[in-house]
Amino acid sequence: MMRHLISAADLTRDEAVLILDTAEEMARVADRPIKKLPTLRGRTICNLFFEDSTRTRISFEAAEKRLSADVINFAAKGSSVSKGESLKDTAQTLEAMGVDAVVIRHSASGAPYRLATSGWIDAPVINAGDGTHQHPTQALLDAFTMRRRLVGRDAGLGQDLAGKRITLVGDVLHSRVARSNVDLLHTLGAEVTLVAPPTLVPVGVETWPCEVSYDLDNVLPKSDAVMMLRVQRERMNAAFFPTEREYSRRYGLDGERMAKMPEHAIVMHPGPMVRGMEITAEVADSDRCTVVEQVTNGVSIRMAVLYLLLGGNEAAAAHPSPTTTLERGATRRPSATEESK
Ligand code: NCD
Repeated sequence: MMRHLISAADLTRDEAVLILDTAEEMARVADRPIKKLPTLRGRTICNLFFEDSTRTRISFEAAEKRLSADVINFAAKGSSVSKGESLKDTAQTLEAMGVDAVVIRHSASGAPYRLATSGWIDAPVINAGDGTHQHPTQALLDAFTMRRRLVGRDAGLGQDLAGKRITLVGDVLHSRVARSNVDLLHTLGAEVTLVAPPTLVPVGVETWPCEVSYDLDNVLPKSDAVMMLRVQRERMNAAFFPTEREYSRRYGLDGERMAKMPEHAIVMHPGPMVRGMEITAEVADSDRCTVVEQVTNGVSIRMAVLYLLLGGNEAAAAHPSPTTTLERGATRRPSATEESK
């Protein structure tokens, strides 16, 4: 297992599958009355959020607390960053306080990489979204959701997403979620198609491991999962499409369009949704839409990532599948989901 999690592209197939399998174990904890494991007791994790976030920040915090870590929340607003403090100074302050891991979200692409490779800080760095670059734990929770729904909860263990056809629709240009998903889904053997207006397709997309289409209606019947992306108006400094109505008409998902998908196919969205823009309320609230499930799964994925980066390295090396370890019941090290005594 690597030391940091900066990009979904850094994960091998086996590492990604290990994270998904570990997350299945973590999910069992959420089914218990007491949702807590002693795994990271005595470790301190700092959540460094330089950019707005609701679900990702809460999700990391829930994951850290369920693993019994001590949590420090740092939001740039109200901190010395607004007095002009640099990332380097902030990092050195955290290092001086002895944090064991840093979760960082930043509006600048590359900030987590800089933090991980600068030598300013010794702790593992987990990217919680940087600019339009990467959001690896989002891609992992999406893959987890797809594997559960399209392969099966138990049947999925040890499996990847080979042959699954996944369609990502909308503002690909500004989407770190799209970039992370294309990388991870490709590694997991899925076939990815991007659908977007030509103005929202990034330059250089031909080098990405996916197909590009401008015709949503044509792609829907051949999709096992359709992921709608938010139109990121806050990152747009120009007019990328004529009107919202025109956008919705061509690239939005409504009930009529959803009916073109195969019966088993699911609709996904990373949130926050702009209802009426990329997705109608009818679709967002339908049984086929996994948006709420994705949030639940996000906590299990982040627990798995924290466990593997902070506590589980030796365990993972000694026992390639933590699940088998659990089933065998005998471990020299306490396993990830052993109850607090
Ligand atoms: C996404 C993000 O912030 O990258 N949201 C999320 O993490 N759940 C996508 C978005 O903002 O549209």
